Amino acid sequence: MHRSFLTNIVLLLSVFFTVGLAAQDKFVVVQRQSAEPVYSPSAPECIEYATTANLSTIGTNSTYRGLYLRASPVGTIANARMFSAAQARLPAMMMDPALNGRCGNLTDLALKQAEANLTQGIVAQFNKLPAPGIKAGPEVLAVVGVVVLVFTGTWSFMS
Ligand SMILES: *[C@@H]1O[C@H](CO)[C@@H](O)[C@H](O)[C@H]1NC(C)=O
Ligand SMILES: *[C@@H]1O[C@H](CO)[C@@H](O)[C@H](O)[C@H]1NC(C)=O
Ligand SMILES: *[C@@H]1O[C@H](CO)[C@@H](O)[C@H](O)[C@H]1NC(C)=O
Ligand SMILES: *[C@@H]1O[C@H](CO)[C@@H](O)[C@H](O)[C@H]1NC(C)=O
Repeated sequence: MHRSFLTNIVLLLSVFFTVGLAAQDKFVVVQRQSAEPVYSPSAPECIEYATTANLSTIGTNSTYRGLYLRASPVGTIANARMFSAAQARLPAMMMDPALNGRCGNLTDLALKQAEANLTQGIVAQFNKLPAPGIKAGPEVLAVVGVVVLVFTGTWSFMS
């Protein structure tokens, strides 16, 4: 009798526990659904976020900015104004979890893509920029030296 009473208690508790877990599960699912932002990267607000992130990324980095200003046919003052407007607007957009949920983290994307673009000589809409990193190093001096030697040899042979 005593044993079966204990068994009943344990059984009852485990039923409560299971029901509780199931209810909790359902609650979490419902909560998650209502908080999940709809991913829609082609929405106008996302295009705006992308543009702002791209321009701010370029405006903040002196390498990108310098290359952009050199390639741009528009005046430096107009471009500077555009960059500072983007830089002022980005922090709020970057920290907005709902916007980043709907659009993806376009700040992160802009940073990564700007770096990848630069290695191909692209900054924003401008391409065929002089790739940075190709600098006149000692190799260039050596090549020039060899060329001079060959020419000098040829000339002295001809004279
Ligand atoms: C912003 O940069 C990303 C990554 O390079 C590119 O895919 C996107 O087209 C750019 N968006 C705008 C509006 O410039
Ligand atoms: C988006 O990415 C940037 C740069 O990686 C980060 O600073 C920012 O906190 C991220 N935003 C969100 C909402 O996760
Ligand atoms: C600018 O971008 C280049 C290339 O991605 C990077 O090497 C450099 O550290 C950046 N400069 C600044 C000030 O963030
Ligand atoms: C990267 O290059 C693409 C294609 O040229 C361009 O649309 C995009 O704006 C560039 N992104 C950045 C951040 O420079």
